[in-house]
Amino acid sequence: MSASYVIILDFGSQYTQLIARRVREAGVYSEIHPYNKGMEIISRSRPSAIVLSGGPASVYDAGSPQLDREILDLGLPVLGICYGLQAIARTLGGTVQPAEDREYGRANLSSVASDSWLLQGISQGAQVWMSHGDKVISLPEGFRTTGSTEDTVFAAIESEDHRICGVQFHPEVVHTPDGTTILKNFLYRIAGLGPDWTMASFIETTSSEVRERVGDRHVVAALSGGVDSSVMVALLHRAIGAQLHPIFVNNGLLRKDEAREVLSTFRDQLGIQLDYVDASTRFLGKLRGVTDPERKRRIIGEEFIRVFEEESSNFPNAKYLAQGTLYPDVIESVSFKGGPSATIKSHHNVGGLPERMHLELIEPLRELFKDEVRELGAQLGVPASIIWRHPFPGPGLAVRILGEVTPERVAVLQEADAIAMEEIRKAGLYRSIWQAFVVLLPVRSVGVMGDERTYEHVAALRAVDATDGMTADWYPIPHDTLAVISNRIINEVRGINRVVYDISSKPPSTIEWE
Ligand code: XMP
Repeated sequence: MSASYVIILDFGSQYTQLIARRVREAGVYSEIHPYNKGMEIISRSRPSAIVLSGGPASVYDAGSPQLDREILDLGLPVLGICYGLQAIARTLGGTVQPAEDREYGRANLSSVASDSWLLQGISQGAQVWMSHGDKVISLPEGFRTTGSTEDTVFAAIESEDHRICGVQFHPEVVHTPDGTTILKNFLYRIAGLGPDWTMASFIETTSSEVRERVGDRHVVAALSGGVDSSVMVALLHRAIGAQLHPIFVNNGLLRKDEAREVLSTFRDQLGIQLDYVDASTRFLGKLRGVTDPERKRRIIGEEFIRVFEEESSNFPNAKYLAQGTLYPDVIESVSFKGGPSATIKSHHNVGGLPERMHLELIEPLRELFKDEVRELGAQLGVPASIIWRHPFPGPGLAVRILGEVTPERVAVLQEADAIAMEEIRKAGLYRSIWQAFVVLLPVRSVGVMGDERTYEHVAALRAVDATDGMTADWYPIPHDTLAVISNRIINEVRGINRVVYDISSKPPSTIEWE
């Protein structure tokens, strides 16, 4: 871990992750923890500064998240944002009250104190983004206001020694254009930290940590060809070379040509030897006659564990299992309790595998956000085709073939999906879409081709816009691109005579159809 290290205590704001990202963009490593674990984490990990996030509660409500007074007595620099500012004020003896009107949206700073440390370089009239119902009406002793807006007198506050400060607005959102300057003032000027968190330093520290932990033992890893597992494998290969054994299982449910592409990328471009298992027949055999989505998922999950276990027995020295778990998957915080999809679909993963195989887990990406993983991948030479690949579910095409999964239907879907992807790429839309794919429906409809009546399957095209997959909106692919996709699929793929476009958002729908 790098030297400068900030803890963000989460009081439930929808923007907490954004604070962490902004702090990291300023070159300072940051971690989010729940507000009520504050003292425990601080005594264990000795951060250099603390940020208190916003949150939806009212500080004076019974049961609202309380700020531990001890945290403010440590002498560490503290920045409170929105609810965080109110929590500081109230904890130290100020007063917070419900405002007559909820203040939401743009506001402009006035009376910016010229000797403010936090607002150094911020001009009178600078735009800030407000989102609060309560406000501070009197400050604790030893504090002063350093900036106001028309509706909020205490829009920015600082203690006499500048160590504790707060803003009622949100410096982490783009609608506060100078927000980054304010956060940097806190990190560099007030807390005296330096920008020492870079990808190069991350690669170096993580590699030496892994080398030390692994020693001369070996590590197995499940490679899916998606961005997370690919970057994880590239990183570990850099750290421990041939002691890493990436296992790539082809379950017969991958996209057209995907297995070939992954193999050639790793073996030829990256020079990383893969252990490749073509288990297509095994998986498709197990899926014969199965139509229930949850049963499909269970079968594929169990079969994957079996195949992986068998394959790993080729590496008896392996004591570790490496996984590409990311930061958003591990944060235990108020605002990230796991979205509805966790319970609505049993997402296939390798959970349970480490215990079964008596392996210890290595998760070298668990401190990173998705965009940081992409940057890391780029630095490690992972090709753009993998770094920008759309998310793909573990159970693969099985959850995009409604009804029974047969080898014939997999082939039909692979063809249709490949056409859609090719046209989406050609239209320059691939990177602006979170995820796009074709679904094969179990219904048939009547059509006409030449003079012949046809009675074939319907395919649905799905494209969504999302930032984490928890919520999503359908993506408006332009009509001319839709026309080409539909035309090509119907003409080129035998078995499909109709294409429909999915215009459902999540919620109430989900991204995948099963
Ligand atoms: P849903 O369909 O739940 O999907 O809205 C949300 C995101 O998760 C992906 N997904 C999966 N990923 N194993 C995975 O690794 C799975 O079983 C699985 N099911 C859905 C989906 O593609 C979307 O990105």
